[in-house]
Amino acid sequence: MPADIAQAIDDAARTIRGSHYVVALVGAGLSAESGIPTFRGPEGLWTKHGEPDLRDYDRFQEDPAKWWEMRISRASQFPELVEALNTAIPNEGHFALKDMEDEGVLRHIITQNIDNLHQIAGSRAITEIHGNRTKLRCIECSSRWPMDEFPMDELPPHCPECGGIVKGDTVMFGEPIPRDALNECIEQTRQCDCMLLVGTSAVVYPAAGFPMEVKQMGGTLIEVNPNETPLTQYVDVVLRAPAGEALPRVVERIRGDSA
Ligand code: APR
Repeated sequence: MPADIAQAIDDAARTIRGSHYVVALVGAGLSAESGIPTFRGPEGLWTKHGEPDLRDYDRFQEDPAKWWEMRISRASQFPELVEALNTAIPNEGHFALKDMEDEGVLRHIITQNIDNLHQIAGSRAITEIHGNRTKLRCIECSSRWPMDEFPMDELPPHCPECGGIVKGDTVMFGEPIPRDALNECIEQTRQCDCMLLVGTSAVVYPAAGFPMEVKQMGGTLIEVNPNETPLTQYVDVVLRAPAGEALPRVVERIRGDSA
């Protein structure tokens, strides 16, 4: 971690303590230290294999039974991602966010990650804007179930609540963000006066738009990322370091101040 980060850690802790409603906007970078590849950047999955095309969801809607048969019978397009997701455990960055929630200084996490690591780390106030890989969701009423608790006795599976078609909860390329999740993100952003940008390249919307809304409402932005992003120019405090190293130090500082 850069030597001169101590001042930034202090600034981040003071800014968080001095804020009323802190929300963390989280991206793939937080789970990088848990061995899950990020999407962009030199080692990114999309950089290496190209981004999935935006017709994924159209293909699902055209023939959901075929989509399910393929999903069940065929290996994933990104086996290294699946392998990493299957074996990953939370890292110090996830636990630091949980500690901030316990300290009462972090009100909510808006995560773009589908890996369920926030929940395993013990965080509670979470909105998964891109879904959760361990769940299924009805595309009509957005009811959700743990994947291993849903009877797969027909393809495509149908929702016991409304009869709608059920798919994985992970939001596909080309699929609209589920209304309930989007509304919660908008509500959390509306209340937010300090947003922590943790491990996101801030290029995918609507998530990438939330920080600027906070800024326009007079709020502050704290970026935790070893690399610059398009939002860096608007950020008040920059922690140019891996989240798993920087966030625990911020918690220490926050706890130190309250001791
Ligand atoms: N700690 C903090 N940040 C990190 C770390 C780390 N240890 N390692 C990498 N990063 C940063 C990178 O510098 C980059 O800015 O994390 C960011 C990861 O960016 P992306 O790979 O673009 O991931 P993300 O912002 O989450 O992408 C958004 O795009 O492809 C879709 O659905 C996918 O949810 C994803 C969305």
